[in-house]
Amino acid sequence: MTSEATEPAGALTLHNALVDDEARTLADDVREGLTAEFKELPPKHLYDTRGAELFEQICELPEYYPTRTERAILERVAGELIAQTGAAELVELGSGSATKTRLLLDAMRSAGTLESFVAVDVTESFVRDSAAELLREYPGLRVHGLIADFERHLDQLPPPRGPRLLAFLGGTIGNFAPAARRRFLRSVCGLLGPDDHLLLGTDLVKDRATLEAAYDDSAGVTAEFNRNILHVLNRELGADFDPAAFEHVARFDTEHEWIEMRLRSREAQQVKLAALELTVAFEAGEDIRTEISAKFTRERVAAELTAAGLVLAAWHTDANGWFALSLARRAG
Ligand code: SAH
Ligand code: TRP
Repeated sequence: MTSEATEPAGALTLHNALVDDEARTLADDVREGLTAEFKELPPKHLYDTRGAELFEQICELPEYYPTRTERAILERVAGELIAQTGAAELVELGSGSATKTRLLLDAMRSAGTLESFVAVDVTESFVRDSAAELLREYPGLRVHGLIADFERHLDQLPPPRGPRLLAFLGGTIGNFAPAARRRFLRSVCGLLGPDDHLLLGTDLVKDRATLEAAYDDSAGVTAEFNRNILHVLNRELGADFDPAAFEHVARFDTEHEWIEMRLRSREAQQVKLAALELTVAFEAGEDIRTEISAKFTRERVAAELTAAGLVLAAWHTDANGWFALSLARRAG
């Protein structure tokens, strides 16, 4: 587990920034979230191995339009983005299975600039599997897998190997609360040199029915994904949640322009979390907020980039105006 800057081409390096403090973070987050007046659980713990598999299934659902829409935009504009940025290194935050990544790597290879790829994700299985696959598919590529929290560990990125494109796809930026989003964009701005760019995928505001169906599919996969956090707490913190006793709820909040996902207690119940020596009482119909997914407009994206010291350099959307890819660079 080293991150040597001197690795030869075609090499894979891995670094795990999480080992020491992740169990403590989960315990702290859960204690704070479940003892608050409005109960809340932090979404990054949704993605254990089973959560990762369920998320892959979500991406294929007929109701879940973001993945295929973003992919279609990338298919159209990847060449243009690489020509505009001259990127030699792709750094992907929250890379998941790095499926759409290949469209950018292909464009970099065609342009003759491709040097290296860095995958950053909290989910170890995602980083290990995608890094190994990409190494096989792109002979000569340098691949670095960083198992890390992109809110805390961006200082552990390896030194750049040329003009960098930092990709944050899938609308994951929408999963931050507003203050965390500002913090994150500012820290990204601090990472960018004058030759570097940010490529940001954002889901856009649209009609309620389309939005809510994307987060409450008829096959119930998203409901299972949401409930998976309770399985994680049972396993990691010795909790005794009955996941079936919680209903999945996804509602578009028009004031905040975000989808809010909740787990609603079907009955009055008590849950013990042995590792925290904590018992939590739920009333019938009481909610735990698990995730938000903010929806944007071009004006909002531009304004938030500006507030973080960035400037919008290109805006690409699909014919329906459902999803957008923004290219940004440092202001000035
Ligand atoms: N980029 C992929 C996956 C999006 S899902 C796509 O577009 O399909 C969000 C990804 O971010 C998951 O792989 C999850 O493991 C990761 N993730 C969530 N919170 C994270 C955090 N705090 N730090 C690093 N990765 C995180
Ligand atoms: N970034 C994705 C999104 O906001 C994550 C996501 C998709 C998600 N479906 C979900 C998160 C269901 C929680 C529950 O669209």
